[in-house]
Amino acid sequence: MTMLTGAPFRIEPAAAPTPAARRRELVADPGFGRVFTDHLVSLRWSPRDGWHDGALTPYRPISLDPATVGLHYGQVVFEGLNAHRGEDGGVAVFRPHAHAARFRRSARRLAMPELPDDLFVAAVDTLVRHDRDWVGEAPGSCLYLRPLMFASEATLALRPALEYRFLLMAFASGGYFASGFGAVTVWVSETFTRAAPGGTGSVKCAGNYGGALLAQAEAAGQGCDQVVWLDPVERRQVEELGGMNLFFVYDDRLVTPPLTSTVLPGVTRECLLDLAPRLGLPVEEAPITVDRWRRDCASGALTEVFACGTAARVTPVGTVRSAGGEWRIGDGTPGPVTTRLARHLSAVQRGAVPGPPGWRYEIG
Ligand code: COI
Repeated sequence: MTMLTGAPFRIEPAAAPTPAARRRELVADPGFGRVFTDHLVSLRWSPRDGWHDGALTPYRPISLDPATVGLHYGQVVFEGLNAHRGEDGGVAVFRPHAHAARFRRSARRLAMPELPDDLFVAAVDTLVRHDRDWVGEAPGSCLYLRPLMFASEATLALRPALEYRFLLMAFASGGYFASGFGAVTVWVSETFTRAAPGGTGSVKCAGNYGGALLAQAEAAGQGCDQVVWLDPVERRQVEELGGMNLFFVYDDRLVTPPLTSTVLPGVTRECLLDLAPRLGLPVEEAPITVDRWRRDCASGALTEVFACGTAARVTPVGTVRSAGGEWRIGDGTPGPVTTRLARHLSAVQRGAVPGPPGWRYEIG
């Protein structure tokens, strides 16, 4: 879909953009989260002016008052979405409207002003148009866009802030895991939980991620790549994997935990629930306990497990470790259903096969 939004942004391009040869070198091996592009989009919000002062500027540090509310009380929400280079060399952003809607829901939950979807998409359009040369061509590479909103008022009064800033930055991504499409090993945490009923687990706020880091460190200490989150009440139901959703494959049938107040509604999860049945793979949203996960692997009924997310895309899970022991899924390597879905999703994102209307927002 092409939609040229009249961009309400003052344009101040970088005076000295990264030289093309250096940019190509960086994009060829970007890792994750460290190779930022030349520009940044920003907006401010105040009760009097609403969203205002939109600008595209060079990517540069910002200065903050030490009493900035977001730093103290965590009024901070963010998103993650990708821009891909298509088969024809053009660039398209994947599902910006779905991310805009989730960004609004996150803001609402944190008592923050909602950024209208059109403005979110106009910001994305403006940044990607200026930094489109940073979108890699190699398979597995893309541009990761990070919209962020934080309470910028300088006060330590504990109430919703009266000033906010929106920033949109982008970095070249070569994939979330250094192992590429290799199967990951996961640790079932019985010590920590990610979210509580009625809490903020179903939105994308910064605190959910800060609170998860110690569990991730525990998983790493067990030689694992990621932490499996169980439900916070009974600690039996599987909910998520790190910052990703999980799918369980029973031959050709997919099962994923249902959305509750403690599960983030992943955009990639939603895409796979839509795409899989079109490939003849029925899907079901149903709870699954960690005991059943283990039992069904032992019996051979459960053939594959994979995680999914914007950053991680489709990531096979090979081995599970827990306090009660370790088990393998299938032969521990990426299975055929996981591989097929990963390839299909990537083809849809790149426009190599058609996806549902409106999913690709073309920049050109
Ligand atoms: C994403 O998939 O975009 C995420 O939110 C993970 C990120 C925090 C690295």
